[in-house]
Amino acid sequence: MAMTWKLLKQLRPPPYTATASTSLHRPRFLNFQNATRLFSDQPPLPPPSGEPPPIPPPQNSHSPSPSSLNQAELAKFAAIAGTWWDSEGPFKPLHAMNPTRLAFIRSTLCRHFRRDPLSARPFEGLKFIDVGCGGGILSEPLARMGASVTGVDAVEKNIKIARLHADLDPVTSSIEYHCTTAEKLVDEQRSFDAVFALEVIEHVANPAEFCKSLSALTVPDGATVISTINRSMRAYATAIIAAEYLLHWLPKGTHQWSSFLTPEELVLILERASISVQEMAGFAYNPLTGRWSISDDVSVNFIAYGTKTETATL
Ligand SMILES: C[S@@+](CC[C@H](N)C(=O)[O-])C[C@H]1O[C@@H](n2cnc3c(N)ncnc32)[C@H](O)[C@@H]1O
Repeated sequence: MAMTWKLLKQLRPPPYTATASTSLHRPRFLNFQNATRLFSDQPPLPPPSGEPPPIPPPQNSHSPSPSSLNQAELAKFAAIAGTWWDSEGPFKPLHAMNPTRLAFIRSTLCRHFRRDPLSARPFEGLKFIDVGCGGGILSEPLARMGASVTGVDAVEKNIKIARLHADLDPVTSSIEYHCTTAEKLVDEQRSFDAVFALEVIEHVANPAEFCKSLSALTVPDGATVISTINRSMRAYATAIIAAEYLLHWLPKGTHQWSSFLTPEELVLILERASISVQEMAGFAYNPLTGRWSISDDVSVNFIAYGTKTETATL
């Protein structure tokens, strides 16, 4: 008991210190016209103590986007790159969550692009990009659903693994993989019908700028899908203490609680990047079956789908 308490004390969440990059001050309630699944009815977290973070200086609209790279975070992924396709390894939670996040993507994007959700290849003819694709756990099923997929990741080893794995099947061998970042692709003026960044935003240097890059990569009226972890006490207990320290699903230190965003914060930074969130859902884990399902509870893992509202002024 004493040991457990000592461990919990060591692991207590640090006070939230938003960097200039997040600079969201106090999350505010937002009105989403068309959203069908939104926030949980959990009480909001108390506002962060201390002074609000400084407002970052405005960006010159023609300057290149600042780098999204956080070298310490990238080193963690480089260290375990060889395990991407081991469904019992450190990426076990992503493998387990994949069918559920794909169900959300199929449902929302078939509505968005007016495609038949019962079709085997509903995304035929559409150009998708998977930013922070890792070993390609998401890119491959998107290609199987007919999309022309580009996967990019800042870690070279991840891209090598993704390439090797995709080449095992003629359907996925069409995926274009590159070791690069969203902001570099913006500089190259690339654009896509749908942009995905699943479980990436909590690892980037500057979430607000990262969202602006995702927006710039999305064609007008295109779709953006982002998933991440809520900065809630429940997420601290489950996604960090349980997943990293008790169940050893993930290497210790994989996640920093202070890097998580609340759903309100994510919606706000997406709105500032001209992406209007249309639908949001939580992922609920059933410890008895080991399965994940879509839920209205966004208190831990959640996913948001938004539409590019206008040409963003970046
Ligand atoms: C938790 S993994 C998610 C992988 C994949 N999106 C998925 O959900 O299956 C995060 C990935 O984002 C990549 N990453 C982190 N920061 C990045 C950045 N700024 N630009 C591109 N990739 C990044 C990491 O290398 C890692 O592969």
